[in-house]
Amino acid sequence: MYRTHTCGELNLRHSGNEVTLSGWVQRSRDHGGMTFIDLRDRYGITQLVFDMETNGELCREARKLGREFVIRVEGTVRERSNKNPKMATGDIEIDVRMLWVLNASLLPPFTIEDETDGGEELRMKFRYLDLRRNKMKKNLELRHRMAGEIRKYLDKQSFIEIETPVMIKSTPEGARDFVVPSRMNQGEFYALPQSPQIFKQLLMVAGYDRYFQIVKCFRDEDLRADRQPEFTQVDCEMSFAGQEDVLNTFEGLAKHLFQEIKNIDFNGPFPRITFKDAMDRYGTDKPDIRFRMEITELKEFTRGHNFQVFDDAEYVGAICAENCAGYTRKQIDKLTDFVKRPQIGAKGMVWVKYNEDGTIKSSVDKFYDEAALHKWIGACGARQGDLVLIMAGERIATQEALSELRLEMGRQLDLVMEGDFAPLWVVDFPLFEWDQETGRFYAKHHPFTSPRPEDIALLDSDPASVRANAYDLVINGVEIGGGSVRIHNKDLQGKMFEKLGFTHEQAKEQFGFLMEAFRYGAPPHAGVAFGFDRWVAVFAGSDSIRDVIAFPKNNSGRDLMIDSPSSISHEQLQELRLKIDDTGNDK
Ligand code: AMO
Repeated sequence: MYRTHTCGELNLRHSGNEVTLSGWVQRSRDHGGMTFIDLRDRYGITQLVFDMETNGELCREARKLGREFVIRVEGTVRERSNKNPKMATGDIEIDVRMLWVLNASLLPPFTIEDETDGGEELRMKFRYLDLRRNKMKKNLELRHRMAGEIRKYLDKQSFIEIETPVMIKSTPEGARDFVVPSRMNQGEFYALPQSPQIFKQLLMVAGYDRYFQIVKCFRDEDLRADRQPEFTQVDCEMSFAGQEDVLNTFEGLAKHLFQEIKNIDFNGPFPRITFKDAMDRYGTDKPDIRFRMEITELKEFTRGHNFQVFDDAEYVGAICAENCAGYTRKQIDKLTDFVKRPQIGAKGMVWVKYNEDGTIKSSVDKFYDEAALHKWIGACGARQGDLVLIMAGERIATQEALSELRLEMGRQLDLVMEGDFAPLWVVDFPLFEWDQETGRFYAKHHPFTSPRPEDIALLDSDPASVRANAYDLVINGVEIGGGSVRIHNKDLQGKMFEKLGFTHEQAKEQFGFLMEAFRYGAPPHAGVAFGFDRWVAVFAGSDSIRDVIAFPKNNSGRDLMIDSPSSISHEQLQELRLKIDDTGNDK
């Protein structure tokens, strides 16, 4: 028998029991005539004791054990003289009588401890060792529990989990597809789904009424801390449902998870904010509302003082940092550098200090007298001791820069309490997004999203102002999920394709099957998909979704452990009738 107990369960009640444990050597310490070993398994750590006086040979064997050796021991549970209240098994230790080495281990390339000395790349290469660390184990356990609670809740609400295919046809969701060549159909390719969007709509046409799936999705896009090329969605769709039904059902899911996983009871409804308000007040469509510091538009107060930068700008906006009038020149310069970073791209930043003594000082004193500056201060709701930071330029870009500045000030001023959660719905997204480069409209969400009925008339005359029946769930400034009411009418869907620049033939080629399905009685339907990795990361208090994925890829889309992607053999290429053209490869 390998074990009678795990390394996480023994306590004083087991004193005197004969037990067998198996696990990994976390660390060992020699103290005079004693050797102590921390034995680790998935469930915890138990202290083993080897006594030179009573069993010298065994103790010498124990001293040869290295980190991460796999061993089995038999011994007696006894009360510790030096208890460790931080450990679940901290009251006891095992007086070891027998020891078997089940497997030796090389010295691991980094310490497998909570505070490890291994950098991320190294830990990714030896991910199976990284996964032995407590933090990773806790994250994967959290992920498992969340998936379980999601299934429990949705099952109760009559949703059924249905699998959809992974080898499909390219569907436009905004990113590039990963493609898979077909050997049996030479010259043709499957695409991996960016989401099961079309299939879940077809399931509604098929009458399945309430569908969900915890499902892998694939997108070939630039990676960031919150993006992986393959990631997991909690994908959902409901028939005979509109926006209110979806928001209520999935607010219920979110509350269930908060309650069961974080033990937080959200009483009232989640706040809702329109896309426009989110942009105006926070400069982003995924506001972190754990703290206020809202943006104030100042254009009307800045006009007519011959300050060219503000006069020429489409938009002037400000945030007010409380109690920061004492910021030094150096601190302000640092903030200016922050907003000028290429990722943020602001040209500069103007400041106004409303000093404790009521005096005002600003970087634009030359253009604006105290009376003018008082108006700004008043508009921002600044009080004595506050610092107002102002940026100007093209509307959206400046709002986005102000959003970054707001988040940075939130960090600097410690405005976010650990363990605080602020969920909200963002609604009324625009249906289209104009792309300057290609000079055409794209679907802001995806082409199956329904316009708000009262805006349909604007589709031809003013497409930019058409609002969609689309919504996002945001928690702590992270876009956790998004969805929409779908178009279920063949003609409206055709019109949408036309507005998005698809010719009739292109639309038929790509979505003919969907349009065809809509001719056979498509019910009104709506849905949503949540980024499961992001949700777990937010609950885990982690900035990167890599921390909650067992085997993630790095920022270049590589799996450093299995070394993928990799080339394939000449025979495989030949079988697929593929040739690699490396003439354009400048590596
Ligand atoms: P959307 O594209 O908004 O909607 O995706 C839904 C959610 O998936 C998460 N997400 C990602 N997570 C990790 N890495 C990525 N590369 C990544 N891309 C997206 C986000 C996002 O909110 N079919 C629609 C949903 C619908 O309309 O029902 C869809 O996929 O958390």
